[in-house]
Formats: sequence, structure tokens, C-alpha cells
Amino acid sequence: MTERAGAEASERGSTVCERTLVLVKPDAVRRGLVGEVVRRFERKGLRIEAMVLRSMNVELADRHYAEHLDKPFYPPLRDFMTSGPLVAMVLAGDQAVEVTRLLTGMTDGRKAAPGTIRGDLALSNRENLVHASDSADSAKREIALWFPELT
Ligand code: CMP
Repeated sequence: MTERAGAEASERGSTVCERTLVLVKPDAVRRGLVGEVVRRFERKGLRIEAMVLRSMNVELADRHYAEHLDKPFYPPLRDFMTSGPLVAMVLAGDQAVEVTRLLTGMTDGRKAAPGTIRGDLALSNRENLVHASDSADSAKREIALWFPELT
């Protein structure tokens, strides 16, 4: 769903069930924050449709972050994302893409608003605990990468 379609649905008071992909990143696993992060999504009312603890290899990192391959921050980001296990999950619910991004907060944990996952728990631009799909199209592509059995 586009942002505009989401806004129109909200105005009508109707709900639009969506899926989104979340990665609880290696820093969250190392810091013992998986439960805390998942708890926030569940308490909001989002449903976990799939969840797995696994590692990201370099090939998957390059496919997942295809749009960032040429960015200067990508090599250290790839090293970080492949540095240990992460939790991949599919969340579902009304406007799940936007709602999940709002709960996650701005990319830079130092600037993210208090009350968001990154704002409360992260102090880095890279090691920012969570990845969440940034649009319905990204969610579709990313869910197909991580959970092909769901598509
Ligand atoms: P994520 O939501 O997974 O999407 C891309 C990731 O790149 C982002 O979270 C951060 O982990 C990382 N990232 C984005 N911008 C920067 C940056 N300027 N410096 C370091 N890491 C970044």
C-alpha cells in the first residue's frame, strides 16, 4: 500500500492488513535485547507471522541492501550485519509497514525520538538494533528474500 492509500484508508476509518519484514540485528542479539524489541511490536498489536534466528551471509547482505551497495557506509554495514546471528521476522497488521517504522524510529539512534526502539536503546547510526522495510514494495521484495515460502 502506498502512503497516500494508507492515509485515505485511515480517513475512511478502514483497516488495510499489510506485511513487513523486520531484522532484529546482531547488536540486539549480542545485547540480549531480542525480547525487548519483539515485545514492543507485539504490544502494539502487530502479529508475528514468521520468525527465525539465522545469520546473514555476504551474498544475502548484498541482495538485501542492494540499494546501498555503492554507499560509503556499506562495507562496514555488511561486516556488522554478517558478524553474528540475527532474528528475521514477518510482522502483519493494519498499515504494518508504516507502524513498524514509527515504532523503530529514525536510522541514527542518537537522533531517534525517545519512545522509539532506537531512541530508547541505540546510540549509533549503524548498530541501530532493527531493520524494517521502508515501503510496501520493499517489504514484498525483502519477504521474498528471507521467507520465500511465504510468497
Ligand atoms: P537499516 O534500516 O537496516 O537500513 C540501512 C542501514 O544502513 C541502516 O539501517 C543503518 O544500519 C546503516 N546506515 C545508514 N546510514 C548510515 C550511515 N550514514 N552510517 C553508517 N551506517 C548507516
